[in-house]
Amino acid sequence: MRKNLGVLPAVYPMPVLMVASYDKNNTVQILNAAWGMICAEDKIALFIDKEHATTKAIMQSKAFTVSLADKSHIDVADYFGIATGNKYPDKFAKTGFHAEKSSFVNAPIISEFPLTMECELQDILDSSILHAVIGKIKNVSVDEKILDDDGKVNPSKIEALVFDQFKSGYYVIGDKVGQAWNSGKDLFSKYCK
Ligand SMILES: Cc1cc2nc3c(=O)[nH]c(=O)nc-3n(C[C@H](O)[C@H](O)[C@H](O)COP(=O)(O)O)c2cc1C
Repeated sequence: MRKNLGVLPAVYPMPVLMVASYDKNNTVQILNAAWGMICAEDKIALFIDKEHATTKAIMQSKAFTVSLADKSHIDVADYFGIATGNKYPDKFAKTGFHAEKSSFVNAPIISEFPLTMECELQDILDSSILHAVIGKIKNVSVDEKILDDDGKVNPSKIEALVFDQFKSGYYVIGDKVGQAWNSGKDLFSKYCK
């Protein structure tokens, strides 16, 4: 039996992205965003509200970073999605987290998060139904602890949080269960002669 649930943003998992930028006072502004995704080899699209302090900072500085939130920083990651820099401009500083300026773009890298995309603002897509911030990825920096011996990121070591829009839970996924372009190879050989 199937049941109709109506209109829902029913994609799972959603990422837990930490979007950070310098505002006009050079203060770090940061928010939590689930609605964002890679949209080209070197591009990321973020669907973030124009009124957020971080969005305003991005418009002004023309740069931002996007980090993956990890399990060990879940409380701060969630707090970044509750408090607003519009009311609490020092919301980032209060956490005691550390920021250093990217050497690729004018935006802060938050040391505590293990993987960061350093982006320059490439475009804003603004219509009556959509506000998207498009970033061009200029560099990705990582904490060496998430790398394997081959120098590649081991996703299991990130312990990245994912978000569910059904019950607003945070989860960690990690078990590798297959290999892309390989798990379906036998079926491809069988069905596509
Ligand atoms: C799990 C979670 C996901 C969120 N996803 C988004 C999102 O995709 N887009 C958005 O505009 N706001 C999103 N928010 C809300 C912002 O993070 C929140 O309003 C934040 O306080 C804005 O901060 P700022 O005004 O300091 O930039 C999310 C919040 C949480 C807790």
